[in-house]
Amino acid sequence: MKNIKIFDTTLRDGEQSPGCSMNIYEKIEMAKQLERLGVDIIEAGFAIASKGDFKSVNAIAKNVSTPIVASLARALPKDIDCAWEAVKDAKRPRIHTFIATSPIHMKYKLKKTPEEVIEDAVNMVKYAKKYCEDIEFSAEDATRSNPLFLAEIFEKVIKAGATVINIPDTVGYTTPDEYYNFLTRIKENTPSIHKIDISVHCHNDLGLAVANSIAAMRAGATQIECTVNGIGERAGNAALEEIVMAINTRKDILKYGTGINTKEIMKTSRLLTNITGVEVQPNKAIVGENAFAHESGIHQHGVLEERSTYEIMTPESVGLNTNKMVLGKHSGRHAFIDRLKTLGYELSDNEVKEAFEEFKKLADKKKNVYDGDIEAIVSKRVTHI
Ligand code: KIV
Ligand code: ZN
Repeated sequence: MKNIKIFDTTLRDGEQSPGCSMNIYEKIEMAKQLERLGVDIIEAGFAIASKGDFKSVNAIAKNVSTPIVASLARALPKDIDCAWEAVKDAKRPRIHTFIATSPIHMKYKLKKTPEEVIEDAVNMVKYAKKYCEDIEFSAEDATRSNPLFLAEIFEKVIKAGATVINIPDTVGYTTPDEYYNFLTRIKENTPSIHKIDISVHCHNDLGLAVANSIAAMRAGATQIECTVNGIGERAGNAALEEIVMAINTRKDILKYGTGINTKEIMKTSRLLTNITGVEVQPNKAIVGENAFAHESGIHQHGVLEERSTYEIMTPESVGLNTNKMVLGKHSGRHAFIDRLKTLGYELSDNEVKEAFEEFKKLADKKKNVYDGDIEAIVSKRVTHI
């Protein structure tokens, strides 16, 4: 099975999320954890953005050995010089240069004609190629660009030396079917595209970043750009853990693998939360507090009998020790008895019946019933401990 390349941009696009900035030591710690996680590429930062960013990219380049280390650069000589200075000590350096290609961005932001944009892109890829073999070129706001214009610019930058072309959904605007067809159209009109990696980079403004990335993979993308916990500009980027576990769990239809050590997912997510102080929502897929928790009696009964009834992947596979049975008003006798056993209590049938009734009354009044509450109920009628 072929592996899709996982390009992690937590330390660049992710860090652009409000409240998520990290200092150099935090970035190095995070980069080392990303290496243990097994990502293929770490985008370490935007070297020209600040002195701190430059130092962090450079320190990461010197401190990780397996992944490619990339720095972002606008299509400007000074950005490319700076990106190269920052990544040149990496075992596997990459310069990632970009320019916007949509009519809106070209007109209002760049104030350039499409011809000028093509010229800048080609010249800057050639310029970067003098430094580095591995060059990624991104067409910013690609999904609001003309696909035939993109095919033209991609063909030219590939000829100029780009080794990866990226087709970002910068503003999270596309939908899975549309993105699939868009990529197909670009592929059909870019004769040299088979020589390089096709990357996708999806933002989550409509909550479709992961679905769009998966659709793109089906259309032939060979690299997916994403961030841990889905942090990033506005509504964030495609979440690494969701992409990886979707690919892993649905190998049967997706027919791809990744080089990710999924058992490191939880640790990576928690490290990022600890560093930034930005919590993930409890119902967040894969890494949320409730992602492997069951509260309703029917679900708890099912899972206690056979985990696969309500668990499509195991908590162990993402590095959690166990699932969680939350005792609350929706819980049933099975989960209650199971918790009694875990706490070391053995009650007669009648005692269980009375204790369970008391538990239900309490659960109606309280959001969470803790082990201490259960011990208080049971201690009145316990036979063995
Ligand atoms: O969202 C985007 O288009 C980007 C590019 C710079 C790759 O982050
Ligand atoms: Zn982005």
